[in-house]
Amino acid sequence: MKKRVVLYKRLSPALLAQLEQQVEVTWVDTSAADGLARLRDALPGAHGLLGASLRLDAGLLDLAPQLQVIASVSVGVDNYDIEALTRRGIMLTNTPDVLTETTADTGLALLLATARRVVELANWVRDGHWQASLGPAHFGNDVHGKRIGIVGMGRIGQAVARRAAAGFGMQVLYHSSRPKPEVEARYSARYCDLDTLLAEADYVCLTVPLSAATEKLIGARELALMKPEAILVNIARGRVVDEAALLVALQEKRIRGAGLDVFVQEPLPADSPLLRLENVVATPHIGSATHETREAMARCAVDNLLSALAGQRPANVVN
Ligand code: DGY
Repeated sequence: MKKRVVLYKRLSPALLAQLEQQVEVTWVDTSAADGLARLRDALPGAHGLLGASLRLDAGLLDLAPQLQVIASVSVGVDNYDIEALTRRGIMLTNTPDVLTETTADTGLALLLATARRVVELANWVRDGHWQASLGPAHFGNDVHGKRIGIVGMGRIGQAVARRAAAGFGMQVLYHSSRPKPEVEARYSARYCDLDTLLAEADYVCLTVPLSAATEKLIGARELALMKPEAILVNIARGRVVDEAALLVALQEKRIRGAGLDVFVQEPLPADSPLLRLENVVATPHIGSATHETREAMARCAVDNLLSALAGQRPANVVN
């Protein structure tokens, strides 16, 4: 008999067909009004779950006694209680690697957009304000040749470092759990403690995973260490930054600006005070959101799920 899988993220027709050939699929649209009720109905028979952005708490897991694997369509697994899953004997898989380059592109896009005031000035032109050549009040800051500080030197941090060093001739500082000599050799990068990085960098790019150790890693004290002209880019998780402290630092222009793809609350409420600041570029968690990369992530998750249900070891086991 085919195993049963609850799918809560839309797949392309080709991937859905591949999945349906091997398992029985129940689709649940968790964004629908009755989404949670449908999920609750589907969980008791489920051997596998495939999706993302859903907090599977103990109450939901209790409903799924046969569950063997959760294939998350994400690299980040901060949404899951990994210890609880392990205790229950449920395997968790994720989708690293396939999104590395795209997420690094997002980091550079935010860095450039913020430094060169692309969004603010494009809106200014659209609103009919461009009536003479620009003066210093509308100038941005250079990116090329400046110093970037990368917090977290995993796969995505390294992809940011490559772009910064090779593409923009930037000096690379980095902070991570341990120095990485191979990265230093490749990008002429310099390892330093977080305080030194914050004090010396013109651009600070956060790429660390969210954990107890990195929650609110950047708070009022850390923001105060940054140069007044520095820009913060967050492509990690919103909770890595103390958002209230960041708001104050931006309002009081203690730092020059922020490019933010991730927030404490997502979707970011439309009345968030961050959205009233011209020195903020806010994007809706688009880190990996390209057609190509989201398809690659979904394919990776399907492969992980099917191999786990076939009793093999998937390529990307988290626990
Ligand atoms: C992930 O996969 O964790 C990303 O944040 C999604 O864009």
